[in-house]
Amino acid sequence: MNLNGTRPQALKDRVAVVSGAAHGIGKAIAARFLWEGAQVILLDRDVAAGIAATAEISGDHPPLSAEFLPTDLLRLDEIHAAIGKIGERHGRIDILVNNAGVEIGKPFAETTLEDWDMILGINLRGAFALTQAALRLFPSTGGAIVNISSVHATHAFPDSVAYACSKAGLVALTRNLALELAPRGIRVNAIRPGYIDTRLWDEYLRQSPNPEALAAQTTDLHPLGRRGLPSDVADAALFLVAKNSSFITGTDMLVDGGLTVRAHS
Ligand SMILES: NC(=O)c1ccc[n+]([C@@H]2O[C@H](COP(=O)([O-])OP(=O)(O)OC[C@H]3O[C@@H](n4cnc5c(N)ncnc54)[C@H](O)[C@@H]3O)[C@@H](O)[C@H]2O)c1
Repeated sequence: MNLNGTRPQALKDRVAVVSGAAHGIGKAIAARFLWEGAQVILLDRDVAAGIAATAEISGDHPPLSAEFLPTDLLRLDEIHAAIGKIGERHGRIDILVNNAGVEIGKPFAETTLEDWDMILGINLRGAFALTQAALRLFPSTGGAIVNISSVHATHAFPDSVAYACSKAGLVALTRNLALELAPRGIRVNAIRPGYIDTRLWDEYLRQSPNPEALAAQTTDLHPLGRRGLPSDVADAALFLVAKNSSFITGTDMLVDGGLTVRAHS
C-alpha cells in the first residue's frame, strides 16, 4: 500500500458510516471507502468481529481513519448512541450504507412471526431507523445513501419469503427517500447483489442437503460464469456515493453477473 501520492482519493475527508461492517460485503465496502480517503465508521452487533475488521482494514497505516461502534440495529437506543458519538467526534455524516442483513431460509409455512419480525426488524426497520437518526448529521451540501437490497427483491427464490419482502421494502424505501431527500442534495440508491461469496452464502450452502451440487449449480446460473465477490459490491457502492454518479438517485443497481437476465436455462 503506497500512501505517498498513488492512493485514489474519490472520498477524501468524507465521513462514511457502514452498517453490518464486521463481515462480508459491509467489511469490503468499509475497506474500499477507507482506501478512497473517507473516514469510515463501522457499525455491527458482532463486537469481536467488528474490532478485528476495523484493525484489519486499517492495517499499519495511521493515516487511514476507521473506527468501530458496537451497534445492534434492533436496538433504537444503540442506534441513537452511535449516531450521537459520530456527531461528537466528526460533526457530520456524508455517506451512509445500510448493509446489515440476515436470512434464515425457511419455507413460508414454517416461518414464524418471530422470524418475520427479526428479519424485517434488522433488514428493513433497522435501515429505516438508522437512516432517520443519521439524517440529522447530513450537511446542507448533500450526501449519499446506499441500501444493500438483493435480487430477492424482484425474483422469487425458494424458502425466502420474509427475506424477499425485507429486500423489496428496501427498494421502496430507496425510491421514496430519493424523492424526499433530493431537495437536500442527498442521493439515495440501492444495490441488488446476486450470489456473493460471504458468510451468509456459506450458511445458505451449509443448510442445503447437497452443498457441492448447489455451489456448482449456482455458478452455472451466472452468464458471467462465477458467483460474485464482496469487492464487486464494494465497487458498485463506491460508484454510487462518489461524484461520478452525481445525477443518479432512486435507482436499484443489479450486481449479479447476469443472474436475472436469463429467461430460462
Ligand atoms: N451474500 C449474498 O449472496 C448476498 C446477496 C444479496 C444481498 N446480500 C445482502 O448483503 C448484506 C451483507 O450480507 P453478507 O453476505 O455480507 O452477510 P454477512 O453475514 O457476512 O454480514 C452481515 C453483517 O450484518 C451484521 N448484522 C446482522 N444483524 C445485525 C444487527 N441486528 N445489527 C447490526 N449488525 C447486524 C452481521 O453481524 C454481519 O457482520 C445483507 O444485507 C445481505 O442481505 C447478500
